[in-house]
Amino acid sequence: MSDKDVTEVLAPDAQGIARAAALLDSGGLVAVPTETVYGLAARADDADAVARIYAAKGRPGFNPLIVHVRDAAHAALFGDFGDRASALAAGEWPGPLTVVVPLRKEARLADAVTAGLPSVALRAPSHPVMRTLLEQIDFPLAAPSANRSGFISPTTPAHVLASLDGRIDAVIDAGATPAGVESTILRIDEAGGFEELRPGPLDVAALRIRYGGDTGAATPSDTIIAPGQLASHYAPGKPLRLHAKDRAAGEYLIGFGAVEGDCTLSLSGDVTEAAARLYDCLHEAARSERPRIAVAPVPERGVGRAINDRLRRAATPPD
Ligand code: TXA
Ligand code: MG
Repeated sequence: MSDKDVTEVLAPDAQGIARAAALLDSGGLVAVPTETVYGLAARADDADAVARIYAAKGRPGFNPLIVHVRDAAHAALFGDFGDRASALAAGEWPGPLTVVVPLRKEARLADAVTAGLPSVALRAPSHPVMRTLLEQIDFPLAAPSANRSGFISPTTPAHVLASLDGRIDAVIDAGATPAGVESTILRIDEAGGFEELRPGPLDVAALRIRYGGDTGAATPSDTIIAPGQLASHYAPGKPLRLHAKDRAAGEYLIGFGAVEGDCTLSLSGDVTEAAARLYDCLHEAARSERPRIAVAPVPERGVGRAINDRLRRAATPPD
């Protein structure tokens, strides 16, 4: 952060996007809308700018960042794309898919972006404001979710400001993000198999059918390299009870389908709508005066897998 303590709120129009591009160009931090959640962006080729991301978030240095690019051709400057990764990028980008591929020697990204790993996570987002921004700059953007490390991810500018106001240069206000949970992350191995590192809006079973899953999963990585996968994450700061059918004393209930709550993910039982509302309900629950949170069961179908993944981590107390 340039040493100011005021975070500018920018309109999602040409002027606001140009201002964001200028701030990023000079090494600043700007929270940007994507189709999944708001990201905290900085230029990925500038070590000082990337260090500011880690500082603003309080993020541990072993947790690498996703590099956001315009398209597959842009991504190929930074990662080695084999046939499977190329097919996935061609079919799913722009969209909520992140691929982890070998880092190119010529990539010239700041070391902290990849946390020293020999691989890099890349994605081309589809949000129109983010796409316009990426068209205007000539560098890639490192962007983790725009929240303090370990806390609930942001799907609105208000969520971003709740944890990062005064710690970042600006936020582009494009309203609520449509998908509501972070991108599906796949690690692609040299043989072209892939391993789901994080469930997200894209259904990995459908991807396997479409892109030739018969080769099976990637050889499992021997180290935990997606700390979004740490047992405790997305923490609301209160105990959280899963599979709740009703509200116990002192609980803020997050409902789904037949279980109506203080905040309801989807009355009609639609998992896509539930994903879009998940973090807003968790933010509301965290802000409420009730000391505990309970969440109704959400089915393990489609993006319901990603919802349940986040809820399990939100229910696990930090050590
Ligand atoms: O939808 C999204 O992916 C959002 C938006 C802003 O694009 N971003 C996001 O970033 O969720 P973040 O930093 O909260 O999560 C990125 C995840 C982390 O779990 C990180 O460990 C993993 O990606 N990751 C990054 N580089 C990796 C690598 N080389 N190998 C394995 N995992 C990696
Ligand atoms: Mg995150």
